[in-house]
Amino acid sequence: MIIVQDGCFALQTPHTSYIFRKDAAGNLLHLYYGEKIEIEEEGLAKVCEIMAPVITNQNGCSLIADTAQPNLCLDDVCLEISSRGKGDMREPYVELVLADGSSTSDFRYENYRIEESLLTPEGLPGAYEEKGNGQSLVITLADRNSKVKLELVYGVMEDCDCLVRYGRLVNSGEETVTVNRLMSMQLDMEAGVLKITDFHGDWAREMAKNETILRQGKYVNDTSVGFSSNRANPLFIWADTETTQEYGDCYAVNLLYSGNHRESAQAGGHGKMRILAGMNPDYLCWQLEAGEAFCSPQAVLTYSHQGYQGVSGQLHYFVREHIVRGEWKHKERPILINSWEAMYFDVQEKKILKLARTAANAGMELFVLDDGWFGKRNSDASSLGDWYDNKEKLPTGLAGLSEKIHKLGLKFGIWVEPEMVSEDSDLYRKHPDWAVRIPGQEHALGRNQMVLDLTREEVRNYIIESMSDVFFRGKVDYVKWDMNRNLSDYYSQGLAPRHQGEFGHRYILGLYQVIQTLTDRFPHILFEACASGGNRFDLGMLCFMPQIWASDNTDAISRARIQNSYSYGYPQSVIAAHVSGCPNHQTLRRTPLTSRFAIASVGILGYECNLSDASMEDMEEIKVEIELYKKWRNVLQFGDWYRLYEEADKKSVYDMDVIRWNMVSADKSKAVGIMLQGEILANYSHHVFKTRGLDDAKKYHFYNRALKYDIHRMGDLINTMAPVHVKQDSLLHDAISKFIRLDGEKEDKVVSGAVMNRHGVPLAQNYAGTGYGQNTALYQDYDARIYFMEEV
Ligand code: GLA
Repeated sequence: MIIVQDGCFALQTPHTSYIFRKDAAGNLLHLYYGEKIEIEEEGLAKVCEIMAPVITNQNGCSLIADTAQPNLCLDDVCLEISSRGKGDMREPYVELVLADGSSTSDFRYENYRIEESLLTPEGLPGAYEEKGNGQSLVITLADRNSKVKLELVYGVMEDCDCLVRYGRLVNSGEETVTVNRLMSMQLDMEAGVLKITDFHGDWAREMAKNETILRQGKYVNDTSVGFSSNRANPLFIWADTETTQEYGDCYAVNLLYSGNHRESAQAGGHGKMRILAGMNPDYLCWQLEAGEAFCSPQAVLTYSHQGYQGVSGQLHYFVREHIVRGEWKHKERPILINSWEAMYFDVQEKKILKLARTAANAGMELFVLDDGWFGKRNSDASSLGDWYDNKEKLPTGLAGLSEKIHKLGLKFGIWVEPEMVSEDSDLYRKHPDWAVRIPGQEHALGRNQMVLDLTREEVRNYIIESMSDVFFRGKVDYVKWDMNRNLSDYYSQGLAPRHQGEFGHRYILGLYQVIQTLTDRFPHILFEACASGGNRFDLGMLCFMPQIWASDNTDAISRARIQNSYSYGYPQSVIAAHVSGCPNHQTLRRTPLTSRFAIASVGILGYECNLSDASMEDMEEIKVEIELYKKWRNVLQFGDWYRLYEEADKKSVYDMDVIRWNMVSADKSKAVGIMLQGEILANYSHHVFKTRGLDDAKKYHFYNRALKYDIHRMGDLINTMAPVHVKQDSLLHDAISKFIRLDGEKEDKVVSGAVMNRHGVPLAQNYAGTGYGQNTALYQDYDARIYFMEEV
């Protein structure tokens, strides 16, 4: 709900309040963002009066912007937005250069309006509200130094503790103005010290969680690779230093944007913090012509007094309900088999059909033909852009293959990388100017490929038409939309020199237009975004494509950490995760199939390995796991996802788990728990599984996935039980292993939600080097467990 009274504004969500007001000179003073303060419409001005800073004298060194308020220095107040040149020395929200070369702006309040819908920045994706419960507040500010107006657009949704925000500049003058920066969100806070959490990495090691205590100076999380990037995800969290997973003040911002971004926290000299988030200004130099408007991407902002977990839960809900859209929004996603790690570029119809048949027999639902099916694509050195069938590999083309896959009872999906062109391709030979490059100069290659210039309409149209043809002729049910290199040599041969500073942002605008057209044209297709794994894992892409391939790293241990980090801002319904071969192709690590399944099941489950060569035992296990996943799919994909284990949750220094999670259905009648063990520690054998988010008042049947173990697991300890001596790994040992399997521990209790949430369930004792008893849990390194909870 939006409340306005006498130049005072309050944005009320179910549990938060965001309050600001204009002062006598028309500056917008930010007053409060935090736990909800109930306010009657008539009471807002009073509340604001009390919250407003008391300013009675000037400080040394301060600049006074307006003699109407002779003691107010902009550097020493919390502002809704800021610019350069009038005494606020902190990083600004907006930066303009006027035709005379000056770069001072002075935006003052002009008016406001309220719209009964959520507004979206032109050409950019936006959060949406389908039940008519969204409202927008638009505040217009006018620059005293130019004819530029700045609109601050805020959106609230009645069902959600998130706000959305963006800025819109309108040039109502006659001269061009250069926009060097227009951020999406500024939040000034009365806070001297903050703990910042953000997520860094690179290819195959996305989302390494990073914590920084900021007391003085500035902290920046940004990217310049052209995309939201695996180096610095735009999710940015800040909290009180005492905040825990469950308690304390915690804030987060994320961007609905896929290009270069920047989030910063700056400790001002007066015990205040400024948080900014938006497009990276280093890559923005936009010519705003007379009469034109320019929007920053939308930012989502959230606050919780229930710690990191509270913020995550609110963002998950926001993503599920207000970002992901279309047919697949709430629809259970199919279990897929992907050809990449099974055969890489060596795709052949015969092999494909064999793999598909095995997958179908195991209960999988979708076959995805990854890279290698088109042009002369035998390696990553050629053919991007040539989206016609390779008839040597697919004699009956995509159309024929798709028919055969469909006949097996599977859906058919395809991999494409539409934004790219190989130097060795018919497309590049025909249209060399369509690639991003500076004429006459060497350009950088990434994975041997170049980027198509999506700022150009003819290029966008080519992509739209060539992709439509692929999707149509392949009767495609699913598309993996990949993008495998960073931007370099920023330049478009379609832009005049003075507009070259717009290239990075125009590329993203072009991309959005292409994927909007295609997702509108093919509403039934399930689209999955990918960028060498998680190089473009952001809310911008999720506005068009309901899920994203989170990382090319499919190793269960790495993935557990990566997915755990994604959980800070993204629900598992948008995270694609696959079970792959062993040893793992990225880390060469060996992990049990059960663990690979456990981790991949917390997300959109797929398989990406050569099932055609899998052992009978593995195939049997895979079948069981698929059945299990189908039974629990709704909770696993859409349940509320809780992190149960972070460094701070360790019960002792000996605690060696990698992760513990649980997912709880919306009605809290069902839950699934996952526990992944790291290295084994001898003689440390009593574990408790403590949940979050179950209904205290309900009773649950708590049980585990019962496992059976190969006796090889015990090595020559078999001789402590066998009546005859068995030489380890001998034929006899192998023969016994065919008939005798060891029973894993069984958990089977009825427990109240209150006990589960507060105390947890004590689990069967671990093997501790002193004998294997009746209900001993046999853990090895990297073993996982899955627990189920059903209301009784
Ligand atoms: C990228 C993707 C992989 C795979 C390959 C194909 O690396 O992230 O999943 O599709 O491209 O070339």
